[in-house]
Amino acid sequence: MTLGTNVTLWRIQLPDKSPGPEAWALLDGRERQRAEKFIHDRDRHRFVTAHAGLRLALAAETGQPPHALSFTVAPGGKPQLERHALSFNLSHTGTVAVVATCRGSAVGVDVEMAGRLRDLDGLAGMVMTPDEQVRFADLPPDFRQIAFMRVWTRKEALLKADGRGLMYDPRKVDVGVDDGTDRAIVLEGISWTVRDVPLAPDLAAAVCVSGPLASIHQRGVAPMT
Ligand SMILES: CC(C)(COP(=O)(O)OP(=O)(O)OC[C@H]1O[C@@H](n2cnc3c(N)ncnc32)[C@H](O)[C@@H]1OP(=O)(O)O)[C@@H](O)C(=O)NCCC(=O)NCCS
Repeated sequence: MTLGTNVTLWRIQLPDKSPGPEAWALLDGRERQRAEKFIHDRDRHRFVTAHAGLRLALAAETGQPPHALSFTVAPGGKPQLERHALSFNLSHTGTVAVVATCRGSAVGVDVEMAGRLRDLDGLAGMVMTPDEQVRFADLPPDFRQIAFMRVWTRKEALLKADGRGLMYDPRKVDVGVDDGTDRAIVLEGISWTVRDVPLAPDLAAAVCVSGPLASIHQRGVAPMT
């Protein structure tokens, strides 16, 4: 018997070049409309590749053809699969998108490019609890950049798993500023587990599920030409 949820984390590369017609062909009318609204071609290319990749990952999990999958949107804005019990969540940053999938739990994921941020204390004041801010201020200067991204991706993964996203004030939930093991968090009576995911040196990422988290298995979505 496995204790906790097994998550698959699908990684999608988002090249700047235009995706082919086969990627567009996987999208539904709503996704195409959203894609067409981007001002910059690069953003449109990335969106189309990310959503085609999302569909390929969900098709591999459900056994359905990727173009035949349909989505509903929960009141907080979280997309969900129609007619399937599979939970998923998508995140993208720069040239990378990730999709977390699992069964039997809610799931959230966040990935961010780990660039150099300015005014870390000001940013901390906007997203951290008072307690987190004190512990963050005590960290050695060299660790503060990575620690900030760690806190941020944990919070986003949690609030995306919950489904309210940033409509819930991130200053109200403590996810810890240290590195290390899983964080068990209770948010309004529901238990969650948040885990940092090492994807690449320049990427910070975290996954969150309701209840205990057993494993995270990383896979790639085959690039579309
Ligand atoms: C959801 C949210 C945290 C995304 O943050 P982000 O760092 O910009 O983006 P990420 O790349 O990590 O995630 C984006 C993906 O999360 C998913 N998503 C959107 N809303 C979500 C929500 N409320 N909960 C969980 N996932 C959500 C979508 O798949 C989205 O991808 P898409 O825009 O390509 O369809 C942020 O937009 C937010 O909290 N918004 C507030 C909620 C809101 O405005 N809802 C609309 C009113 S109903």
